Amino acid sequence: MTIQWFPGHMLETQNLLKKAISKVDAVLEILDARLPDASANPFVNKICKGKFRLKVLNKDDLADPEQTKLWLDYFEAKEKTPAISICGTHKFQAYEALNYCVNRIDRNRARKIKVMVLGIPNTGKSTILNSLAGKKIAKIGNVPAITRHQQRTSLKNNIDIYDTPGILWPVIEPEQKAYILAASGAISDTAIDYNSIAFFAANLLIKRYPELLMQRYPFLETLPKNELILIEKIGSARGCLKKGGIINLQKSSETLIRELRAGKIGKISFETPKDLEYDNNTKKN
Ligand code: GTP
Repeated sequence: MTIQWFPGHMLETQNLLKKAISKVDAVLEILDARLPDASANPFVNKICKGKFRLKVLNKDDLADPEQTKLWLDYFEAKEKTPAISICGTHKFQAYEALNYCVNRIDRNRARKIKVMVLGIPNTGKSTILNSLAGKKIAKIGNVPAITRHQQRTSLKNNIDIYDTPGILWPVIEPEQKAYILAASGAISDTAIDYNSIAFFAANLLIKRYPELLMQRYPFLETLPKNELILIEKIGSARGCLKKGGIINLQKSSETLIRELRAGKIGKISFETPKDLEYDNNTKKN
């Protein structure tokens, strides 16, 4: 599944961001802590050259803490990019990210410091902005691309912060990345096939988080042998049935994805630095 998902407004936004970035002092690149590589837009790498950039692994309350720690080490050691993990709904943690950035900028006190918040849809940019402002100034939603226009907000301490619309890139490859993004909710649900996303998620859960799976769904009794069995058992237990008592796979898939995204199954990371290193080595050979 190669997702070609690039609505017209994203191209327009990409061009606007290119211009706007030259005017800011630093960038907070908001990533999803559950998928810190898949949620990194390659376009951000290109336009951030020469700017101070902090990778902010947001939603760390939903991610596997062990993997988040490994990701932070990975970015510092391998990519030489500073990184921090936060839960953006907490004001204190949002400020930790902003202050990290501001303290490293060569600061001329006579003028305002301008910080841009960048990231793909649904990573929590507006949430972080609202936490920083201490009030609701940006629209929040659990569907991608809620924020459509760049907005500037003046904070205390002479800091201006720029919220930007979430942008993806034209062709998402490899397939694995597209699945990870879709499972997290970064890609609109209308652009994906729910069943295949649920199969991807079920495989991840069976292989990497069997204990969490068994805790969340005690009716399983034993670890399902494959993805279909897991999805069918969830459907059966949750009453996702068609006429005649046949399991409705679409509804069962939706249930699994909804619970995964909401963190109900537990703290889960969709990818690990080991996966990334493995992929990079495979590409080289
Ligand atoms: P776009 O406007 O599409 O670019 O989205 P955005 O990046 O501005 O994301 P937004 O702030 O709208 O957040 C998306 C969803 O994630 C919302 O349902 C938020 O409540 C949720 N969210 C944001 N930050 C966190 C976090 O740290 N933890 C958890 N659990 N949820 C979060």
